[in-house]
Amino acid sequence: MPMKTIISHSTPADVETETLVAVVLDHADPADKNKDAKPQLKVASGDAAVQSAASDLLASGEVTGKPFEVNLLHKPAALKAKRLLLLSGGSAKRFASYDLRRLAGAAARTLKARGIRSFAFIAPSGIPADEATRAIVEGALVGNFDPDYYRSDRKDQKIDALTVVATGDKSGLEKAAAEAQIIGESQNFIRDLVNEPSNRMTPTILAERARKMCAEVGLKCEIYGADKIKEMKMGAFWSVAQGSDEPPALIVMKYEPAGAPEKPVLGLVGKGITFDTGGISIKPADGMEKMKYDMAGGATMIGAMRAIALLKPKVKVIGIVCATENMPSGKAQKPGDVQIAMSGKSIEIINTDAEGRLVLADGLHYAKQLGATHLVDAATLTGAVVVALGYANAGIFANDDSMYERIHKANEKAGEKMWRLPLDDEYKEQIRSTIADIMNTGGRWGGAITAAMFLKEFAEDTPWIHLDIAGTAWMEDQKPWIAKGPSGIALRSLVEFVKGFAA
Ligand code: BES
Ligand code: MN
Ligand code: ZN
Repeated sequence: MPMKTIISHSTPADVETETLVAVVLDHADPADKNKDAKPQLKVASGDAAVQSAASDLLASGEVTGKPFEVNLLHKPAALKAKRLLLLSGGSAKRFASYDLRRLAGAAARTLKARGIRSFAFIAPSGIPADEATRAIVEGALVGNFDPDYYRSDRKDQKIDALTVVATGDKSGLEKAAAEAQIIGESQNFIRDLVNEPSNRMTPTILAERARKMCAEVGLKCEIYGADKIKEMKMGAFWSVAQGSDEPPALIVMKYEPAGAPEKPVLGLVGKGITFDTGGISIKPADGMEKMKYDMAGGATMIGAMRAIALLKPKVKVIGIVCATENMPSGKAQKPGDVQIAMSGKSIEIINTDAEGRLVLADGLHYAKQLGATHLVDAATLTGAVVVALGYANAGIFANDDSMYERIHKANEKAGEKMWRLPLDDEYKEQIRSTIADIMNTGGRWGGAITAAMFLKEFAEDTPWIHLDIAGTAWMEDQKPWIAKGPSGIALRSLVEFVKGFAA
C-alpha cells in the first residue's frame, strides 16, 4: 500500500493526528564564534499553541538544535495531536528545502520505528508552501523505504498516511503533493529494483518489471533479446552478454505525448549490469556481492520513465536500458579481443571489467538512431569516480555546456549533489589503441574521466551528459533520513531536467 498524502489547512493545534511534527531552528548567528553562545531555538511555525507546547523543553537547555535531533512529547497541552515531535533543523539562516526534505525522511523513520503509522508535518515558515510541500512529501517517501525484504523478522512498519499542514492555495498545494508523490514513489520503485539480488533481478526479470510498469502508466515498451542484439550489430553490448548463461535484454521505452514538438527527443540510457563479476578480468571476492547494484543506472532510467509518464511534460523521451550480466565463462570475451560496436568503431578490450562503457556505447548509438537529439546516461561506471568525489557527489560529464547548465539547475531544484569533471582532448590519448580505434580502459589515472571519454566517442556530436553514480547509488551507512542500501539518486534531477525541455 502506498503512503497516502493529504493537505490540511487547519491551524496546527487543531490537527488530530498520531504525531504532529514541528521543525525547530536555531536563530543564533552562525558567524558568532563565541563558544558559550546558547542556541536560540524557535519552532518554525506561527502557531502559538505549538510554540507554547514546545516552550519549556526548548528553554530547558536540553535541546541543542543540531540537525536531526528529535524530541517527542506526549499529550502536548492545548494540541489535538497525541504527540508533538520536535525535529531540529540546525541553523535557521541556512535552512532550505534540501534540509527540509531530509527532515521529513527522518520524521518518517523515527516514527515508523516506534510503530506509529501516520503523522502530520507542519510546513515550516520561511520556505514557500508549495516548495515545502514537495520537500516534505518526497522526503517522507524516501524515509519510508527499508531494504530488509528477505528478513523473516521484517517489521511491517510503514507510514501509511502523511498530512502536510500548510497555508496557501489549496489546489496548488495538492498538485505539488501529487507530483511529489509520483517522484517519491518512482524513486522507491528504482530502489526496489536495485535492492533485489542478481538471482532475483536477472536481465529478463528487469525487462519484465519495465514492461509491467510501462503497461501501468501507458508507455510503449519493446524488449529485445540476444538475436536482435546481434542482428542490430551491437557488438559492444553483445561482447559483455556473450559470457553469461542468462539472456540479455535491451529495454526500449517510449514516451510520445500528444502535442509535443517533433524535437527535441531526449534519450535516457542506463547501464543495466545485473551482476558484475568483472568477467575474465575477475574482481576480488571481497565486496563483490555489492555488484548486484551495477544495474542502478538502468533502474534509474526505468524509474525516470515512470515519473515522466505520470507527470506528462510535453516533450518526447526515449528510455533505453542495456541489461546483461558480466560473467567469466568459456564463452566470455577475453582481454585483447577486438569488438565492433554498433556505430562501426572498433574496440580493443583491455579489461573485461570495463563492461559498462561497452553496453552504453551501443545504447547511446541506438538512442541516436531512434531519433534522440539529446542524450543522458546514468551508470555505476567506475570505482575511480568514488576516489574522486566520494559518496557525497555523483560525477557529471558533458560534451556541451548548455546541457551541463540544465542538469546543474535540475540538481539544485531536486536537492541532489553532483559535480562536473572535465573531458579535455588530452585524455583521449589514454584510450588510443594500436590495433583498434579505441581501448576500453585508459590506465590507472583519471579513470572516471577516461571512461567518460570512451562514451563521448559514441555520443559524438549529440549534446550529451553522463552521470557516474557509482559512489552515490548505494548508501554505505544508514542516515537519519534514509536507510542503508539503494538510494535512488538522479531520479529527481532527471525529472527536473526533462521538465526543463517541456514546451
Ligand atoms: N561496476 C564497476 C564500477 C564500480 C566500482 C561501481 C565500484 C561501484 C563500485 C565497473 O564495471 C568497473 O568494474 N569498473 C572498473 C573499470 C576499470 C577496469 C578500468 C573499475 O572502476 O575498477
Ligand atoms: Mn566492471
Ligand atoms: Zn560494472
